[in-house]
Amino acid sequence: MHFQWYPGHMTKAKRTMQEDIRLIDVVVELVDARIPVSSKNPDIDTLAKNKSRIILLNKSDMADPAQLDVWIRYYEENGYLALAVNSKKKNELKQVHALIQKACKEKIERDKKRGILNRPVRAMIVGIPNVGKSTFINTFAGKACTKTGNKPGVTRGKQWIRLNKQVELLDTPGILWPKFEDQTVGQRLAFIGSIKDELIQSVDLALDLIEFLVETYPGTLERNYQVEETENSAGILKQLAKNRGCLQKGQEPDYEKAAFLLLDDFRNGRLGRITIERPSH
Ligand code: G4P
Repeated sequence: MHFQWYPGHMTKAKRTMQEDIRLIDVVVELVDARIPVSSKNPDIDTLAKNKSRIILLNKSDMADPAQLDVWIRYYEENGYLALAVNSKKKNELKQVHALIQKACKEKIERDKKRGILNRPVRAMIVGIPNVGKSTFINTFAGKACTKTGNKPGVTRGKQWIRLNKQVELLDTPGILWPKFEDQTVGQRLAFIGSIKDELIQSVDLALDLIEFLVETYPGTLERNYQVEETENSAGILKQLAKNRGCLQKGQEPDYEKAAFLLLDDFRNGRLGRITIERPSH
């Protein structure tokens, strides 16, 4: 399957991010907890070199709880501070404050030694499109905080949200692109709905998803669609179409409709909490 990706704007976005990153102390990167590597931008490591790094496994409410722990350990072993979050829930984001302080410990101590007290640390949210950056900023910053305007010495036009005495957040998130030239990455992004449906072969994608589910989460399709998982993926899609009334004229299965139904159920968490990616593959 070949995926195209949003053309253009990438160089500009990268340049803007390069400028923004100079102003901040800690990069808070959001990834999708269901595909924690495929939803990660490969350039960010270079762009955020020498900055403290936090990884938030967002949309954790849709990911497999056992895999969340595995991924947190994986990122911690790779030098990040990591946390699973649901950006729609304010109380789940409380821990992020502590994490930011922990990530900036060295800077805060350096300031202290120089006699600078209570200088807020500056954080920036980054991530690929649709990973939940706006949702996170809205929930995390809420309405209570004030926006600080242009300050001398700060690039004009940048807006900072004062979260509290300790933290300021750049109000526009940094948008980055995934490693779209990699077909596995493309497939996984398509599974979670982060690639426009016009660009994908929905039936092929649904068949791939069926194969993955039968192998990794056996019983899921049987429970949800009363299909026999012993058949091959095309046979399973056919059964699903029949059981759910996705039929064309003459009672023939409508594969396209059945594929969309399955993908939509998966993307909206109706098949349960499922993680596509494992650290090893
Ligand atoms: P972006 O700025 O990174 O592009 O992403 P955005 O915040 O727009 O979020 C993309 C979609 O993901 C939104 O759904 C949003 O509600 C959802 N989302 C963000 N964080 C979480 C999370 O932790 N858990 C869950 N379950 N969903 C999350 P949407 O369908 O586009 O809009 P709507 O459903 O909010 O109307």
